[in-house]
Amino acid sequence: MLVAPSILAADFSKLGQEIRDVDQAGADWIHLDVMDGQFVQNLTFGAPIIKKVRSCTSKIFDVHLMIVNPENLLDSFLDAGADLITVHYEATSKLDDIISRVKAAGKKIGISLKPNSPVDVLDPYLDQIDLILIMSVEPGWGGQSFMESMLDKVSYLSSLRNKNPSKFHFQIQMDGGIKDSNIERVKKAGCDVVVAGSYVFKCEDYSIPIGILHENS
Ligand code: DX5
Ligand code: ZN
Repeated sequence: MLVAPSILAADFSKLGQEIRDVDQAGADWIHLDVMDGQFVQNLTFGAPIIKKVRSCTSKIFDVHLMIVNPENLLDSFLDAGADLITVHYEATSKLDDIISRVKAAGKKIGISLKPNSPVDVLDPYLDQIDLILIMSVEPGWGGQSFMESMLDKVSYLSSLRNKNPSKFHFQIQMDGGIKDSNIERVKKAGCDVVVAGSYVFKCEDYSIPIGILHENS
């Protein structure tokens, strides 16, 4: 299991140091939540801030775009140093274009699903993408409760992948409400990468929650 702390729960007054600290504490990837106030009600940050903190770590920058029409800003996030860009299925009608542009830039592409979206809408894309992000909370805020029923989507994807290992190469990621009390079930369902915001950053020593998410999985 890989662990991707979400900096949404970090102290933004010292963002660079927070990223260095989770890196040192054992984070595998750094998860960056971009919100536009339209696709979700909340607003966070965009490509210029990602570009500024890129030099704080060499870990994978996992950029979760909760923005409408992400195709319009794709180049700025690629230029900012994203290694993996995840867009929402619900946010665009240009998925084919987005997939080919991110791949042409030599970066990884993920597609995310809100809790109300059925998982089989992704079937036409599964053999082309690097990651599927199953939201286990309604996107927009940290600190919400884990939606247990989302594990069924992870199990579906994991079983498809097990049945067709030569066809499907995607990783499965879950995001929202992940902590010590649910990590075992998340792992058992077939998840490869967990995002954790509040569970990591509320602890004084980030290596403790990151270690627990690694160990219990
Ligand atoms: C929510 C974001 C998450 C958020 C998770 O829209 O996509 O990445 O930071 O926060 P926790 O782990 O606190 O639920
Ligand atoms: Zn996220």
